[in-house]
Amino acid sequence: MNTYIAAAVVGMDKVPLSNLEHPGEDLAMDPAACKFMAAFVRALGAKKVLEFGSGFSTLMMARELAAQEGNYLLSIDDSPRYSALAREAFETSGCQAKVEFRLAPLRPRFYGPRLLSSYSLPKGLLEALGPFDLVLIDTPHHDFGREAIFYDAFKAVMPGGYIVMDDANREPAEKICVRSWTAAYGEAVDPVLLEGIGNGLCVVEKLEEARPRFSGRGALSASFKTIRGLGRLLLHPEP
Ligand SMILES: C[S@@+](CC[C@H](N)C(=O)[O-])C[C@H]1O[C@@H](n2cnc3c(N)ncnc32)[C@H](O)[C@@H]1O
Repeated sequence: MNTYIAAAVVGMDKVPLSNLEHPGEDLAMDPAACKFMAAFVRALGAKKVLEFGSGFSTLMMARELAAQEGNYLLSIDDSPRYSALAREAFETSGCQAKVEFRLAPLRPRFYGPRLLSSYSLPKGLLEALGPFDLVLIDTPHHDFGREAIFYDAFKAVMPGGYIVMDDANREPAEKICVRSWTAAYGEAVDPVLLEGIGNGLCVVEKLEEARPRFSGRGALSASFKTIRGLGRLLLHPEP
């Protein structure tokens, strides 16, 4: 196994996390997944982290980042309520890391023939704030699909950096995402599935810069799911 991933798997048991502090699995990543992310930040010596899905994971990673000079964590969410809760938890924690919370609505966008949901951010913003050593994808809720988040994040990660997706054991949604990413980037990415941590973590190393080749395979069903998910979001907006 990759040495950084192995070091994080070994180190995660030493990451302190009390049951009283964890807000519960309805709201946050599984405690083991949170511990892995903290240990992975440490193993990589990461300075810059990008996160999609603000919450308890933000604080867990920020605590590890705080020791690094020039640290920065950008945490993006579409829900004003959950972004504000994450910000409040971070600000009252006393953690000294530099963390920026940003709200961005979900919008449909074509990636080749695939109509996917992605966060509406100013063009080039992620690249300008990066390059990031590590990205965590833990949103949007599975009805909206996580495929496009990877394509947007990839450009802002340095070669040798990592993109981690939570809930990777989930059939078929997240498993389809990983297949689509591998098809799009080929040998430029190296995905590893950590099935036994929380609901599964997919840890993808970016080996080199590459332009994605978006496949037509499954494009119709991906596009349909995007329209259905965004339709639901319009009817029941995130609080
Ligand atoms: C489950 S949260 C996890 C966030 C963070 N990574 C963590 O570990 O705490 C992922 C997404 O779900 C949304 N969310 C959180 N709780 C929710 C709830 N009870 N109902 C609907 N959406 C929720 C948030 O806006 C966020 O985009």
